[in-house]
Amino acid sequence: MSNYGDYQIEIYFQGLSGVRSDLPMTYGELEARAAASLSPELLSYVAGGAGNEHTQRLNVEAFDRWGLMPRMLRGAAERDLSIELFGISLPSPVMLAPIGVIGLCGQDGHGDLATARAAARTGVPMIASTLTVDSLEDVAAEFGGTPGFFQLYTPNDRELAESFVRRAEAAGYKGIVVTLDTFTPGWRPRDLSIGNFPQLRGHCLGNYFTDPVFLAKLEKPPHEDLRAAALQWVLAFGDAKLSWDDLPWLRSLTKLPLILKGIGHPQDVRRALEAGVDGIYCSTHGGRQANGGLASLDLLPGVVEAAEGAPVIFDSGVRGGEHIVKALALGASAVAIGRPYAYGLALGGENGIVHVLRSLLAEADLLMAIDGYASIAELTPDALIDRTIRR
Ligand SMILES: Cc1cc2nc3c(=O)[nH]c(=O)nc-3n(C[C@H](O)[C@H](O)[C@H](O)COP(=O)(O)O)c2cc1C
Repeated sequence: MSNYGDYQIEIYFQGLSGVRSDLPMTYGELEARAAASLSPELLSYVAGGAGNEHTQRLNVEAFDRWGLMPRMLRGAAERDLSIELFGISLPSPVMLAPIGVIGLCGQDGHGDLATARAAARTGVPMIASTLTVDSLEDVAAEFGGTPGFFQLYTPNDRELAESFVRRAEAAGYKGIVVTLDTFTPGWRPRDLSIGNFPQLRGHCLGNYFTDPVFLAKLEKPPHEDLRAAALQWVLAFGDAKLSWDDLPWLRSLTKLPLILKGIGHPQDVRRALEAGVDGIYCSTHGGRQANGGLASLDLLPGVVEAAEGAPVIFDSGVRGGEHIVKALALGASAVAIGRPYAYGLALGGENGIVHVLRSLLAEADLLMAIDGYASIAELTPDALIDRTIRR
């Protein structure tokens, strides 16, 4: 049996034959080199967050509160990182978080397809954003045998929402992730200072521009009047009035697993599950939406407790394998990667994403090996020590 950590052996053996990877081995170098390769507009959109970016920083720093307790002589020579999620067997507990501009981060402008191909190669499911360059059908066609999920920004036009969900079902997506915290963008000073919002320029609207319901609202097709089509998108994008009363309608749209993204309060978890939602996605949207100062990781234990065994996907702030391990130990069923894969794509295309995913998994796997945890089931809150409490 091979372990994810074997990636390091591959890299060292390549080194023996004089081949050195030109892709970064640390997050710091990944971020810095990707920053140098992205246009100022794209960098501002991907790297920036809301307000003074306090929440964005906290999302990462929150992991430092916890330390994994080393346990020796437990025979963790082979590790099992596989999980079951919504009845689907996955080789690892990692997913690709929805990133709206990922299409533009690819050097050929088709980063959504590159991400889907990386998902096919690694078995790491892509949660494809509503805001892709290529249509959700074209993205799904690249998934290979890896299951994919569709992330819905609920439009304020119900017919359009229904059309997106129907299309996702027909294209073979295995679940619908509804993002709740983005009916309007957060206050993002970096983008504001350069007056930059990609979708207003008509970017990443592939799903809208291929949708019969959306197209029927336009006087001219998008290729003839992009400005009018982008303005129609602004009108259609987010339903600011969406409330718990609409949940039965959302639930009625599909028999696929329905997952709510952006939930942090235990009461909201319980309410969602009572309304028949299948999974909770604990996320602070990478600090891009509300700069309220609570890290996603700090919300996770309360979410997990209230979920009472229902699946909890976690994201925000994951930058290394140790973060994956800690989120799992705090009860996440799966951990989604955000900015790191956008940077991997910007630097190395599909191979760049594969490298980022393999590196994260290798680091997580080797940490589990060395500290004596052979399976995810062994990673419980008891495996973590809170470093801020004096003993
Ligand atoms: C550039 C960018 C675009 C994003 N677009 C979406 C999106 O379209 N839909 C969504 O639900 N979340 C979106 N997110 C949020 C991610 O799904 C995820 O919650 C976040 O990236 C996690 O934070 P991290 O990247 O700092 O780890 C986006 C994040 C970034 C960085």
